Amino acid sequence: MACLHVIPAPFPSSRPLASPNFRCRPVRCATERQALFNRIAPVYDYLNDLLTLGQHRIFKRMAVSWSGAKMGDRVLDVCCGSGDLTFLLSEKVGSNGQVTGVDFSKEQLLIASSRQNLRSKYCFSNIEWIEGDALDLPFTDGSFDAITMGYGLRNVVDRRKAMQELLRVLKAGSRVSILDFNKSDQFLTASAVEWFIDNVVVPVASGYGLSEEYRYLKSSIREFLTGKELEKLALEVGFSSARHYEINGSFMGCLVAKR
Ligand SMILES: C[S@@+](CC[C@H](N)C(=O)[O-])C[C@H]1O[C@@H](n2cnc3c(N)ncnc32)[C@H](O)[C@@H]1O
Repeated sequence: MACLHVIPAPFPSSRPLASPNFRCRPVRCATERQALFNRIAPVYDYLNDLLTLGQHRIFKRMAVSWSGAKMGDRVLDVCCGSGDLTFLLSEKVGSNGQVTGVDFSKEQLLIASSRQNLRSKYCFSNIEWIEGDALDLPFTDGSFDAITMGYGLRNVVDRRKAMQELLRVLKAGSRVSILDFNKSDQFLTASAVEWFIDNVVVPVASGYGLSEEYRYLKSSIREFLTGKELEKLALEVGFSSARHYEINGSFMGCLVAKR
């Protein structure tokens, strides 16, 4: 792991976010979903590893690679949660680059910043965390060379608005890479995903008192868009090209759209 520049990231994990590189923006929407992601934060990373047998790390590397982020870039991770994609972006852009992770869950951001603290003080210091809304990104137009969004678009209350915001803050010619479950139009694949959620994910999550929170996964995938619908939405909001890649036997997908 390459170490980055020298600003320490002083985030005590048990205190409110008041650090100089942890900015807060008011978020006025989706309080139920915000509360859900706050509740699952303590076990989120552990369950991701357990339930995917660590494979989510591979999907995330693919998404970062497809974003086109490179050394020295200014990049953004929207719906960053505990920061998996943000940390990968940090490695990609190096010490001359800048990474911003945005999420509306304070608890997820606290975990992200404490993970940052666990590394050497020289690592990941090009990251800034912002508590903010994907539907009202606190950045000026054309700010970023690349953007990632992992398992976020399915969870926002207004996908079109989220896509418009991603487009707005991207520089011309740059890409967004949006990783999520693939809503398959194949009966067998869709049934296999639902079986897995009902029979593995929810029972495991119930061991942590979070069965309802993880049951939400099934309805959120049902209400999500297929790869073709995601491509169409991206083009409708103004991206110049859009391509959805199915990965992991069609269980996951990644939409790559260029401004
Ligand atoms: C399933 S988690 C994904 C976290 C991380 N990107 C990953 O791949 O592990 C979805 C994240 O989206 C965030 N989120 C959902 N709606 C949001 C919104 N409108 N604004 C900001 N964050 C949002 C949640 O707080 C949560 O951390």
